[in-house]
Amino acid sequence: MRVFVDCDPGIDDAVALAYLAARPEVEVVGVGAVFGNNSVDVTADNALRLLELYGRPDVPVAVGAARPLVQPPRLAPHVHGGNGLGDVELPEPAGEPVAESAAELLVRLVRESPGRIDVLAVGPLTNLAIALGLEPELPRLVRRLVVMGGAVRVAGNVSSHAEANIANDPEAAEAVFAAGFELDLVALDITMKTVATPEWLAELKTVPGERAERTSAFLDYYADFYTGVFGVRQCAMHDPLAAAVLVDPDLVTEAFEAPLRVELRGSLTRGMTVADLRPRPAGDDRRPARVVTGVSEADFLGRMLDALR
Ligand code: RIB
Ligand code: CA
Repeated sequence: MRVFVDCDPGIDDAVALAYLAARPEVEVVGVGAVFGNNSVDVTADNALRLLELYGRPDVPVAVGAARPLVQPPRLAPHVHGGNGLGDVELPEPAGEPVAESAAELLVRLVRESPGRIDVLAVGPLTNLAIALGLEPELPRLVRRLVVMGGAVRVAGNVSSHAEANIANDPEAAEAVFAAGFELDLVALDITMKTVATPEWLAELKTVPGERAERTSAFLDYYADFYTGVFGVRQCAMHDPLAAAVLVDPDLVTEAFEAPLRVELRGSLTRGMTVADLRPRPAGDDRRPARVVTGVSEADFLGRMLDALR
C-alpha cells in the first residue's frame, strides 16, 4: 500500500514512522511536515532524521505550514522536548527537504495515482486544508484518510474539550471534516486507553539495535510527561495507533459512524470535535466519519514491538 504521512514529529509521530517503515508492504510515498509539536523547520528536519534512522532515507520530505490558518501557533516542547524528540540527538540528516510544499507534494502524488494513496495525518490539519484549496477533488483522489485527532466522548488534552491536533488549527480541521473524505478518526477516546504500559516500555529496553534504543529513549521522555497524566509511568501512543489502524485494519474491534464538525466559536469549547451522535442526524448531508473506539491492545503492542526489532 502507498501512504503519504502528514506529521509534526514529535515523539509519537516518530514511533508512527517506525511502525510504517518496518512494514515491507508499505511504500511511504512522501512525508509532509507541519508546525505543531515544534516549529515546521524542526519537524521537517526531524522527519528527515527519523526516516534515515528507520531505514527509509529516500522518502521525500516536504516542508508545510508554519502556522495555523487563523490563530497564532502553539508548540509543545514541554511534551516532546526542546528538539521535538525528547532531547535525544539524532545525527544530522544526509538529505534535505524537497522544493515543493507539503500540500503541493500531496496534491501532485495523488493526481499521479488517483485512488491509490492513503493519507495518515497525525499533526494539525493545516497542510491538508491548504491541499484542498489547491485541489478540491482531493477527497476523491485520496483512497482513505486516517486522522489522529479529536476527543469525541472524552475530555480533551489541551483544554477541557479539545485535543491538540484539532485545537492547533480548528479551521483547517473543520475544512477537512467537511470535505467528504473516506475518513477514520483515531481520537483520544481510543488513544488514551491504548497505552505503552510499564511492562511494554521495559520490554522495549531489551530489544537490541539502534532503532529500538533511540525509540526507547524518545519514549522515556514521553513517559516522564505522561506520568503526570496517568499517575503511572506509561505513555499514550496516539500517532502509532493511527498508523496501525491504517495498515492493520484487523486491529479495530469497535467503531461508530457519525458526521464530524469542529467548534470554532465557543469561548470554552473552541477546537472541540463534535460528532452528531443522533441515529439519523436531521438534515445532515456531511459524509460520516468512522470513529474508532476499540482495538486489540495486545496485538497492537506486539506488532509495535515487532516493528522495532
Ligand atoms: O493529541 C495528540 C497529538 O498531538 C499527537 O499527534 C501528538 O503528536 C501531538 O501532536
Ligand atoms: Ca503528532
